[in-house]
Amino acid sequence: MATPHITALADDFAETVLMPGDPLRAKMIADTYLTDVRQVNAVRNMLGFTGFYQGRRISVMGSGMGIPSLSIYAHELFSQYGVQRIVRVGSCGSLQDGVKVGDLVIAQGASTDSVVNRKRFGGFDFAALADYRLLERTVRRADESGQPVHVGNVFSADLFYEPDPAWAQRMTRMGVLAVEMEAAGLYGVAAELGRQALAVLTVSDHLISGEKLTAEQRQDDFHDMVRLTLDAMTLDH
Ligand code: HPA
Repeated sequence: MATPHITALADDFAETVLMPGDPLRAKMIADTYLTDVRQVNAVRNMLGFTGFYQGRRISVMGSGMGIPSLSIYAHELFSQYGVQRIVRVGSCGSLQDGVKVGDLVIAQGASTDSVVNRKRFGGFDFAALADYRLLERTVRRADESGQPVHVGNVFSADLFYEPDPAWAQRMTRMGVLAVEMEAAGLYGVAAELGRQALAVLTVSDHLISGEKLTAEQRQDDFHDMVRLTLDAMTLDH
């Protein structure tokens, strides 16, 4: 069995898939946190792995950058490989003074300038939401761990290099916590196919203050986020 972008066998993926943007981060998560790991995809170097975390079967696979790339992989995993839930683990840029670099942002909803969800929704504005149970469980773990966590709206931008200088101010005024490039696509695919999705993000840079994490801080925060997400996913569904 294969899809155009994944050559894995039918039961090669676990029901839960963690999805970083960078396939080498998928490898790092598999190498660091999973046992009995098998590589299950390498098409276009979009590495995918399946193993076990605390006795529970978990997969991890890269999404690439942006809604179109993520949507291809999420669609094929949900529709062809029996995947029930995908949790994006990525980074974002803060749009609020109170959301600091290094904090965690959990995307309760995802606004976007992409048209993908309007296409799915007959031209209307679709409220792209996280699965509530996944959200609740992950927020609970974050609160227990004492990590600063913000839960709310993010903006999934099609353009990393946004040309409109007024853009960020509008987002800030509307209470959008942070910008990234995939969550609205993931939530739309999950809604279309009746599956669960969540995006858990670390704040890597601040669009108002200009502050940025160092490469080392990014790595540490990424690990904290991955551990927290894995712990949340291995609580009972
Ligand atoms: N824009 C889009 N995605 C991002 C950003 C950003 O500024 N920072 C981290 N991910």
